[in-house]
Amino acid sequence: MSGLVLGIESTAHTLSIGSVGMDGTLHPSISAVFLPEEGGIHPREAADHHSDSASTLLTKISERGGFEWNRVEAVAFSQGPGLGPCLRIGASVARSLSVRLDVPLVGVNHCVAHIEIGRNQTGCIDPVLLYVSGGNTQVIARAEGRYRVLGETLDIGIGNMLDKFARTHGIPFPGGPEIERLADACLQEGPPSLDDVLLPYGVHGMDIAFSGILTSAVQKVRDGIPLRVVCWSLQEHAFATCVEVAERALAHTGKTELLLGGGVACNGRLRRMAQKMCIDRGGSAHWPDNAYCVDNGTMIAELGRRMHQCGISTRVEDSAINPSLRTDNTSVAWA
Ligand code: ATP
Ligand code: FE2
Repeated sequence: MSGLVLGIESTAHTLSIGSVGMDGTLHPSISAVFLPEEGGIHPREAADHHSDSASTLLTKISERGGFEWNRVEAVAFSQGPGLGPCLRIGASVARSLSVRLDVPLVGVNHCVAHIEIGRNQTGCIDPVLLYVSGGNTQVIARAEGRYRVLGETLDIGIGNMLDKFARTHGIPFPGGPEIERLADACLQEGPPSLDDVLLPYGVHGMDIAFSGILTSAVQKVRDGIPLRVVCWSLQEHAFATCVEVAERALAHTGKTELLLGGGVACNGRLRRMAQKMCIDRGGSAHWPDNAYCVDNGTMIAELGRRMHQCGISTRVEDSAINPSLRTDNTSVAWA
């Protein structure tokens, strides 16, 4: 029977377990998402949620057709970056499984996992990645054995900005999908003029800032501009900044493929903007299915597989989590 790698994701609100066959066949994840009753994510509460959910997820995955514990060849987990208490739960589950099954443990970089699942699913080879999630906003490209960060947010992640704007207006987490729905509703009524709802445009060289746009958008609603119109303008401005930096990264590196990843990459407007930019310059834009844009265990399994097949594993004594792990800390030995 062919082997597989198990992956455990627990960087923030999502605990997720997924697997991938040794030939790269992806198996969907089973996930439990912590939804705070009010306010943002409290790391301790999210960690409690993850420890309460872990055994249920493991039972569900083991009951799946075709799954056998003796097929597991390695156990991968998110070693960082992320919220310390949440990372610790996933790492503990992974260590126990690795010892119990007597298979290698592979600590992986969560940001790099977003890239590798995208490459697996879309078939793109050497992309610039626009990684847009709750906690992270980065433009990344591979050079000399690492995924290098060419530009990133100077303050908060784009998803956190959208979630905070939503929360201020009574929309529960995750706010991004509802902002997209309201922006679409605004367009249905006929496109407004951007000049009527101008917001700060936070591109600084290859970096981006989002806190100014957030403050200004909240003020526009206070000034009486309808929420759906501000949602539309917020998307137009925030996504344009990301796509502008991504375009410059394509121009500087000479690469032709753009890969979107992270939860905000589920957004249809961002996808269309990215696609237009790429087609205009003779390149192509790609994104994985929504289930593989948001945090998921399968992407951790996929990066674990890549590393395992290069002979890379993590000794238990080296498996401490690293909440501030950087994308370019991880050397990339695989093709
Ligand atoms: P990371 O640990 O990589 O920072 P994360 O913990 O933020 O990831 P993800 O699942 O990658 O988790 O992303 C969640 C974010 O994606 C939330 O901020 C949510 O609002 C946003 N999001 C989800 N769907 C959409 C959408 N359709 N449009 C815009 N944003 C979206
Ligand atoms: Fe993520």
